[in-house]
Amino acid sequence: MCGIAGYIGSDNLSQHPLEVVLEGLSRLEYRGYDSSGVAVNTKKEIAIRKKVGRVENLRREIEKNPVPDGVCAIGHTRWATHGKPTDANAHPHCSQTNNVAIVHNGIVENHQELRNELIALGHTFRSETDSEVIAHLLGIALDECADLPRAMAKTVARLEGSYAIVAIAPSQPQMIVAARRNSPLVVGLGEGENFLGSDVAAFVGYTRYAMAIDQDRIVTVFRDRVEVTDFAGNRVEPTVYEVDWNVDAALHDGYDTFMEKEIHEQPQAVAETLRGRLTADGHLKLDELRIGEEELRSIDKIIVVACGSAAYAGHVAKYAIEHWCRIPVEVELAHEFRYRDSIVNAKTLVVAISQSGETMDTLMAVRHAAEQGARVLAIVNVFGSTIAREADAVLYTHAGPEVAVASTKAFSAQITAAYLLGLYLAELRGNKFSDEVAAYLEELGKMPQRIRKVLEQEDRVKALAAQMSDVDSVLFLGRHVGFPIALEGALKLKELAYIHAEGFAAGELKHGPIALIEKDLPVFVIVPTPRRPLLHAKVVSNVSEVQARGARVVVIAEEGDDAIDDSVKNVIRVPQSTPTLMMPLVTVVPLQIFACELAKLKGYDVDKPRNLAKAVTVE
Ligand code: M6R
Repeated sequence: MCGIAGYIGSDNLSQHPLEVVLEGLSRLEYRGYDSSGVAVNTKKEIAIRKKVGRVENLRREIEKNPVPDGVCAIGHTRWATHGKPTDANAHPHCSQTNNVAIVHNGIVENHQELRNELIALGHTFRSETDSEVIAHLLGIALDECADLPRAMAKTVARLEGSYAIVAIAPSQPQMIVAARRNSPLVVGLGEGENFLGSDVAAFVGYTRYAMAIDQDRIVTVFRDRVEVTDFAGNRVEPTVYEVDWNVDAALHDGYDTFMEKEIHEQPQAVAETLRGRLTADGHLKLDELRIGEEELRSIDKIIVVACGSAAYAGHVAKYAIEHWCRIPVEVELAHEFRYRDSIVNAKTLVVAISQSGETMDTLMAVRHAAEQGARVLAIVNVFGSTIAREADAVLYTHAGPEVAVASTKAFSAQITAAYLLGLYLAELRGNKFSDEVAAYLEELGKMPQRIRKVLEQEDRVKALAAQMSDVDSVLFLGRHVGFPIALEGALKLKELAYIHAEGFAAGELKHGPIALIEKDLPVFVIVPTPRRPLLHAKVVSNVSEVQARGARVVVIAEEGDDAIDDSVKNVIRVPQSTPTLMMPLVTVVPLQIFACELAKLKGYDVDKPRNLAKAVTVE
């Protein structure tokens, strides 16, 4: 939540810093978009412009009210936590004497106490935010020590909570100083110029070399070097890495929206996640493994922790891993896991699933698990993200940057990675022979093509959305691996089209939800393959039950499944002979297209739905 960008370059005064930061903010807007702002350091003063609404509003404001040239700049795109989205609450915030400006991502938990203390000293506040106390404290500390990095260290010593703070001061124009605890921050390394961002999207148009910033660090960024220390001032050596995607990957590519582009990128996301997974002697490998094989053989329980769509990918993982490895798998929402007495010990493998690798609830669950002695394996999309760095093993999803707030290709890639994990453990623990694993991998290799076949039915799904654009409630039913997909279909519709949507296990229907069925209520039913007659027959009878009560049924069924007869008008077909456990990769696609189209028909911004942000970096 909240995007931060910073730039420092050549000292001949130019407009460049402002442009670089504005471009960074546009690329980071998916992190929060209720207001945005920039601060430019002119050496004499800090020029600030900020505006409620999208970054385009800020650009218009700057056109009307130009910013003087500067040597470095910082910017922020906000997702409000404390204080409404207003111009005044937008970042950057200044100290009492305007000797520093800061942007902040995170939450200052003791802000009220600090604010009271500062008010007693005669300070006046210009916003309702928790962040403004940071600017005031930093301003005082800078007056005391005349050194921005040291002032930052003094300031963070007073803060409780989470933060990525980036600051500039007219008295120290040769540097940008940042501090990080529990909120993401990364440095981009250029030639004679350097960058800061909440993620690499802020600067990947300029450089692909990035420096990962660990927990509890202060970073001083000059135009030609970067110094990193811990909070006590000891120098530390950070890790530098090359970003494996370029700026083109974050463009619309001819689609109206990022979400549509990302829906269509799913075959590639799955293929990339599968790529290069075999060792020379034909065994599956993870990306990073800091857990001994013996330890992995001895685990007696897996707990998947994740939030939102990633948790539904975890539900799919449960079905696959339990079936292939015979290990009990629990799936737990990360925020619930941490606050109950979950039974975790050294024989537990906690699998954290997260696209961003920065979701605070999941990160806290990871730390909680590690404290209990569990080993943590992360399935993460963003390279070098906090969860990836703190886990004992990592399986990257290689879906490429996902910009739309609603997860699509990352979800498919997470499911794919979960299958790989299941097969890896099954082979390692001797539950499956390597030829059996190879057969599953061959089937997985066919999934991109199967997804493409479903995408070919896009127009049919869009036509359905057009017929239903006035509905105010939709239900989704699924059984077995279709159940998490029903939940995902409902989540997509809620977050994009803002209508009531519920996903149910089809078997639950008669235990309550059937009372909701009334004439013309849209009900999507995900029908399992007829090759699993027990599962199939039960869901087919659910179709009849809701139809008999007048619902408008849309069925997602396998090609050639003739139990779905003429009585069902709306049928979306998925390719025949997809292995049962791999069905989610094809059945989810029509649900994504449906939600996206319905939201577009309602005139909503599908890439940036209201109230949401891409990475939820506060609890
Ligand atoms: O970055 P993460 O995968 O950890 O994010 C988890 C959820 O916040 C995310 O999946 C969210 O539910 C999406 N908006 C769903 O489309």
